[in-house]
Amino acid sequence: MPARLVVLVSGTGSTLQALLDAAADPSYGVVVVAVGADRDGCEGLRRAERAGVPTFVCRVADHRDRAAWDRALAEECTAFGPDLVVSAGFMRLAGPAFLDRFGGRFVNSHPALLPSFPGMHGPRDALAHGVKVSGCTLFLVDAGVDTGPIVAQRAVDVNDDDDEQSLHERIKLAERLMLVDVVGRMLREGYCVTGRKVTMP
Ligand code: GRF
Repeated sequence: MPARLVVLVSGTGSTLQALLDAAADPSYGVVVVAVGADRDGCEGLRRAERAGVPTFVCRVADHRDRAAWDRALAEECTAFGPDLVVSAGFMRLAGPAFLDRFGGRFVNSHPALLPSFPGMHGPRDALAHGVKVSGCTLFLVDAGVDTGPIVAQRAVDVNDDDDEQSLHERIKLAERLMLVDVVGRMLREGYCVTGRKVTMP
């Protein structure tokens, strides 16, 4: 039986596309069972529709408060019975109800080498600091902002003439490869979390 993956998006969904493309090959062993978004009409949702993957939208504005939204997001995801949930450019912080349900089974990709440069502007902050190497980090989401146990990282050189966009685009190339490789292995072979340390066989 292939493993079941739910992917959450907010924007273009190019990292989602890499997972959809990988999952199109049965030997990958993973099916994207649903794609969820926090907004209507984003390109990530259209990519899912083109791939024939069910979608759902869970907007904060449609709920009484953030806690109600968080519970609704958890319910929407639970309905698809995922083994793992991936945040791929999902620009919201999940709350306690979601983490109660999916803690240890919810990963996020961040475009910097954590714990450096967490938050919304990883590539911009890394450039402003003048680093020579940046990259991307796949981590298990916890209650903090980009603080959870690290599953994988890939380094990307910073060029002298990089701006925020060129660096982010190059990091995204590495992110897509990392996600496909590591999410596939997590689901096919399993992983172990001991404190902050995540290991795979
Ligand atoms: C990725 O760099 C991700 O780490 C960040 O937003 C980007 C998503 O890009 N949070 P896309 O929407 O998958 O193209």
